[in-house]
Amino acid sequence: SGSHTADLVVFGGTGDLSMRKLIPALYHSDRDGRLSPETRVIAMSRGGLTDADFRGKVDAEVRDQVPIDDPAVWQRFLGRLHHVSVDVGDHGKDADRSGWGALTRLLAGHEQRDRVFYLASPPRTFGPFCRGVDEAGLVTPRSRVVLEKPLGNDLPSAQRINDEVGAIFGEHQIFRIDHYLGKETVQNLLVLRFANAFLEPIWNSLWIDHVQITAAETVGTPGRRGYYDHAGALRDMVQNHLLQLLTLTAMEPPARNDREAIRDEKVKVLQALRPITGTEADRFTVRGQYVEAGGMPGYLDEPASTPTTEASRRVETFTAIRAEVKNWRWAGVPFYLRTGKRMPHRRSEIVVQFKDVPHSIFPGGAPNRLVLRLQPEEGIELHIMAKEPGAGEVTLKPVPMSLSFGKTFTARVPEAYERLLTDVLAGNPTLFMRRDEVEAAWRWIDPILAAWESSAELPEPYPAGTTGPAGAHELLGRSGRAWHEEE
Ligand code: BG6
Repeated sequence: SGSHTADLVVFGGTGDLSMRKLIPALYHSDRDGRLSPETRVIAMSRGGLTDADFRGKVDAEVRDQVPIDDPAVWQRFLGRLHHVSVDVGDHGKDADRSGWGALTRLLAGHEQRDRVFYLASPPRTFGPFCRGVDEAGLVTPRSRVVLEKPLGNDLPSAQRINDEVGAIFGEHQIFRIDHYLGKETVQNLLVLRFANAFLEPIWNSLWIDHVQITAAETVGTPGRRGYYDHAGALRDMVQNHLLQLLTLTAMEPPARNDREAIRDEKVKVLQALRPITGTEADRFTVRGQYVEAGGMPGYLDEPASTPTTEASRRVETFTAIRAEVKNWRWAGVPFYLRTGKRMPHRRSEIVVQFKDVPHSIFPGGAPNRLVLRLQPEEGIELHIMAKEPGAGEVTLKPVPMSLSFGKTFTARVPEAYERLLTDVLAGNPTLFMRRDEVEAAWRWIDPILAAWESSAELPEPYPAGTTGPAGAHELLGRSGRAWHEEE
């Protein structure tokens, strides 16, 4: 088998993330022979389930999400699953002491195994959970803790969580998830940049006009308003996923493919971001909120378990930002970031737009573009100018040289969570965010949040199913640029 025997304790183990992402990813690992025979998955929740109940739930809810070619492998996987009931109160007092007792009994005698505490629960439970396992004496030298997002709501709350978790676990034991880092194209970005000779010499402000990073989703936020009203697109997507993509695009070549070397370079990019404060937010940022259109409800009309409030009216479901990395390589190159719900297509991509040729001898022509597509279909496209076949005048046409991972490689493209869980079990934190990275990201986000909060204006409405409010198009349009799909 591929890895050490581990006990993986998933707090929030019957929740949405666990049932949709973690359990399927673990099954794939098992099926591919990457879990050692004795490795166990111990879900913790308030549910009061027995092991058999939990296995039944997984059998009912996950079976249809995954390919089962050998029923014996599925049974073997179900046999790894356990459930422990626990209720961790918000104030660090667990309502049900017996939960820790049950976990302690289950883990007793297995101190030599890797022990992973995976916190797939709201961040206010991170501190209490860590204190709980610590007081129960369950933290061994071979223990790790995995933190799901959101890691705080702003810089002070992120620091508080990091302090609370850091009081129990060393930084080398803490794995902060950003699932975008587990996506194949994202890892390929480093290979593309640093395992090929031709790109790096032109990867700078001399040759690149601007960069666009888009994460567009078609989904709205049905049933999520309780969370989303207080998050919004900036906290939910930009602080983590989009800034991670920006750092990997902009970072300097590290000297080694090593966890600290890579993360050191990423932090430097975040520290070089030009702050956007006060009234600058009006010029460099755009907020939008979708309204009813095309048979789709507006944000305020989405089904929710909480009533709409002032926070609902003020929250952005779309944002676009013109960022700048103030260093030698990137000075003067805008990095446009954009993300939104209820857009026309599910599409995430990094678009690097090169400058025009210095001197054009043909009519027409358009600058080269490199498109790194994260989804739907992972791939890389380089748009080059070509001559349209014909005996008459030379006519230029942009054509894509394209690499589709699905067509080029026969191996299945793993889900982000599979890669990340494999790395957690192997103890490799390269694709996880270090404390200083998370805090540097918040340090840049906080002034934008503050500017928005003090603004009298509401987000610009955009009809559901469209590419965002007019302001997003003006953000580029006023310097003669356009978002990638607008041609
Ligand atoms: C999550 C956000 O982190 O990422 C969600 O909380 C969002 O709001 C999701 O839908 C998008 O992930 P993906 O992998 O579908 O692009």
